[in-house]
Amino acid sequence: MTNNVLVVGASGAIGQALVEQLASEGNIVYAVSRDGARPVHWPETVSVFAMPQHDEQAMEQFKADLMESGVRFSLVVVTTGVLHNSERSLLPEKRLEDISAQALSEYFTVNSVIPMLWLKLIVPLVENNATVVCLSARVGSISDNKLGGWYGYRASKAALNMYIKTASVEYQRRKKGVVFVSYHPGTVDSALSAPFQKNVASKKLFTPEFTTQQLLQHIKGLDRDKAVHFIDWQGVEIEW
Ligand SMILES: NC(=O)c1ccc[n+]([C@@H]2O[C@H](COP(=O)([O-])OP(=O)(O)OC[C@H]3O[C@@H](n4cnc5c(N)ncnc54)[C@H](OP(=O)(O)O)[C@@H]3O)[C@@H](O)[C@H]2O)c1
Repeated sequence: MTNNVLVVGASGAIGQALVEQLASEGNIVYAVSRDGARPVHWPETVSVFAMPQHDEQAMEQFKADLMESGVRFSLVVVTTGVLHNSERSLLPEKRLEDISAQALSEYFTVNSVIPMLWLKLIVPLVENNATVVCLSARVGSISDNKLGGWYGYRASKAALNMYIKTASVEYQRRKKGVVFVSYHPGTVDSALSAPFQKNVASKKLFTPEFTTQQLLQHIKGLDRDKAVHFIDWQGVEIEW
């Protein structure tokens, strides 16, 4: 059966690998990224959409077009996330004195607000029994926080987790059988993790392709009686 799937953040390492894996499995893929880039090897079954600012007007237009053409998704994956940005001197904080309002604002915008806007937008676009995944991180677990640091990234992923959990409650009332996943992919070789890889053992540094295979496998095995899961790359539940 051909499924329509949506990948938001399709130009990132994990996003690109997801688009390619999902297309190779015969899905029709809607790939949203800021620049709308289309690698030459992507098949015709991938449609690309540029969403430079993820502003709500452009997102509403995207939704209206899909509603009109009757497209409904069985799977949505939002990969959007930021940990550092050298152009804007954004670095995860090591100590309280490193906190800045500007950095916190950027972390929350990219890691929490943009994914939440997509969770709002897709309400009428997801089929019954769809799966909605956001790439979160284990450091967003409040109960797992032993090391401290990374205030903005941690807190914005914790906020994302709360958005996912809260949305799952409302979706249960409004849609049938939609299951949410907050996903920790492990450490994945990407621009996001690049400055932080040196202490990671090579067998614990995953390729985006491996990450994608793990995620898609875990989605197939989800307990669908539970409306929301916070799981890691092994499919093991993480304490919120
Ligand atoms: N890599 C890891 O080790 C690791 C570990 C734990 C969790 N994660 C999570 O996995 C997700 C994907 O990360 P990745 O490793 O694939 O990193 P990546 O290659 O750097 O991709 C980051 C993604 O975030 C989007 N993004 C970044 N800055 C943005 C901004 N200012 N506005 C809107 N979108 C922005 C990009 O969107 P475009 O496609 O539009 O460029 C891209 O899709 C993130 O949510 C990350 O927190 C990664």
